[in-house]
Amino acid sequence: MAGVTTPATALLAEISDVGVDPRRGGWSRHVFDDAERTLREWFTERALRLGLRVETDRNTNLWAWWGEPGPGAIVTGSHLDSVPGGGAYDGPLGVATALEAVGRMRAAGVVPSRPIAVVVFAEEEGSRFGVACLGSRLLTGTIDPARALALTDTDGTTFGDALRGAGIERTGVEYEGIGRDDAALERIGCFVELHVEQGRGLIDLDQPVAVASSILEHGRWRIDVRGRGDHAGTTAIADRHDPMLPAATAVLAARGGALRLGGRATIGRLHAIPGGTNVIPSRVSAWLDVRANSEADTRAIVEDVRADVAAAAAAEGCEASVIEESYSAEVRFDPQLRERLADLLDAPVLPTGAGHDAGVLAARVPTAMLFVRNPSGVSHAPEEGATDADVAAGADALTRVLTELAGTRDGTGDGAQEGARA
Ligand code: GLV
Ligand code: MN
Ligand code: MN
Repeated sequence: MAGVTTPATALLAEISDVGVDPRRGGWSRHVFDDAERTLREWFTERALRLGLRVETDRNTNLWAWWGEPGPGAIVTGSHLDSVPGGGAYDGPLGVATALEAVGRMRAAGVVPSRPIAVVVFAEEEGSRFGVACLGSRLLTGTIDPARALALTDTDGTTFGDALRGAGIERTGVEYEGIGRDDAALERIGCFVELHVEQGRGLIDLDQPVAVASSILEHGRWRIDVRGRGDHAGTTAIADRHDPMLPAATAVLAARGGALRLGGRATIGRLHAIPGGTNVIPSRVSAWLDVRANSEADTRAIVEDVRADVAAAAAAEGCEASVIEESYSAEVRFDPQLRERLADLLDAPVLPTGAGHDAGVLAARVPTAMLFVRNPSGVSHAPEEGATDADVAAGADALTRVLTELAGTRDGTGDGAQEGARA
């Protein structure tokens, strides 16, 4: 039935069992796996119950429309996938509050003068295929579709095969048609993503909600070191070509470079082949995540790692390569929209070091973000959270923002004159 409001806290509770990961702890919800597909179905069912029209775009992002799709639509939403063993709020909070906000507006009889859509972007974390924000990058044309189709997961399945195997209904368009979708983009007047805060900014300010100012420059690199597999007990140290040593050097160089340049560098994923306790690996891959205030600093940290890994590989008789998997320039959110929302909500303005689909969309459409306080200050881990009161404050804030930006046919609100394109 249209017009029934379910609070975001209740919506989050409905999906709290989906993708629980007993091995790692937390939640693992990866594009096209059982958990993520269950969440797609949940979203679709929830949106239909609100009386919205749901569609899947060419890049497997989900859209739920209130009113005729575009142009000038006010779009909100986030993602439903997670990092491995992640928290329950990164992504789902933005989707649940969006559904609550739309439900409340409909129940209150608001008649917006622009269409409103709730979007769920695919593979935001890049946890399965390695490239973060894959759905929004494809939509905006910031990744080559041929490259995206060839991305592989840890089992060697390509994104293309996973897409075809997922059986996600889409009428009339082949999945080979993934890529830049100007028709979909042209419908967006502005995009506002609500997200759990991933640091301590709002704790320190003692506030429930903030508006985002910027996202740090960031990228991901894969380090491959090839050596010679051998026996851990019979191979003298002097005879080894152990790729784990250059990989260990990479971990230390990342920390050193980040300290030297005031950035952030992490190796959170390491893969040794063949992976036996009593086996010197033949190959090690490590994934490096670097973020800093400028492209020069970000790249200088990577160069520190590259140089130290090359020296360590040469000393150990190994071969090493460092390949860029993705890169995102610093994002400064639309200043007019940011100020308008900060004034409307009387909320502080905060930067973030985390990447978001909103950061990808910001290059193409006026974009803003709202953050909701996270009492642990921890994210990408099960401790990530938000109190029920702060989730409600976030949903309130988003409802006010959507009502203001969409305007109303009776002339209330200004129909997004500022900070959103017609
Ligand atoms: C996404 O959450 C990222 O910042 O990596
Ligand atoms: Mn995340
Ligand atoms: Mn997120």
